[in-house]
Amino acid sequence: MSLDATPTPGSVRVGVAVPAAGTGRRMGGVRKPFLDLAGEPVLAHALRGLLADPRVTEVVVALGPDEAADPPAWLARLDARVRVLEGGATRAESVRRAISGLGSVDLIVVHDAARPFVPREVLSRCIEVAASGEGAVAGTLAVDTMKTVGSGGLVRSTPDRGSLWHAQTPQAFPADVLRRAYEGDLSEATDDASLVERLGIPVRMVEGDAWSLKVTRPIDLLIAEALLRAARRELP
Ligand code: CTP
Ligand code: MG
Repeated sequence: MSLDATPTPGSVRVGVAVPAAGTGRRMGGVRKPFLDLAGEPVLAHALRGLLADPRVTEVVVALGPDEAADPPAWLARLDARVRVLEGGATRAESVRRAISGLGSVDLIVVHDAARPFVPREVLSRCIEVAASGEGAVAGTLAVDTMKTVGSGGLVRSTPDRGSLWHAQTPQAFPADVLRRAYEGDLSEATDDASLVERLGIPVRMVEGDAWSLKVTRPIDLLIAEALLRAARRELP
């Protein structure tokens, strides 16, 4: 681990919950966090980005039952701040378990294992917003015209895309707020911020970028590889 990842005394303690227990249905039924991306598992890329922030003191990864029972060697020796536990049947349940596995932290960041890249500035800004007492969600403004569509495929309306954003991760919150949010009903939750919004606590959008993509379908892995190749070409 590089020296700049040593926590500064007195600085905010950030715990990270990483849901990695999905079954990757849209990818053809694979554990996406363990897919190879340019020579390393998708999850390894994500963890490297998260661990690069020196304020991160703990990371808990929620894994599928097989991986949790016998974590791969690379994960076990990656960094002393990383622990694993078994996730649940839904993303929300996996996040809930990961949060309960975190110790004493001031802020909690949630980041999908299926998002291999964690832009440093985006993570940093999310942490800063959470440190101010609000929730933070990384996202990008919709670029296509958006439609609401009813049953049978009939278009209902064309909402103003100027206020529509794609919500991504990282998302960051004061730890007590997120823990309270996860005590409620999780059945409707597709992200963490929505549970915090439900408590009436302000959540701020933090502008992400094209690097914040989620590996969802096979084409996403190709895009991620192309991004990495391009970035490596630009290195001196
Ligand atoms: N996840 C999880 N536990 C679940 C379901 C999802 O930890 N029971 C995690 C995934 O591993 C992923 C993140 O939540 O890192 C975002 O979920 P998604 O991209 O939907 O992954 P999957 O649920 O695995 O994919 P799919 O929906 O296509 O089955
Ligand atoms: Mg899913």
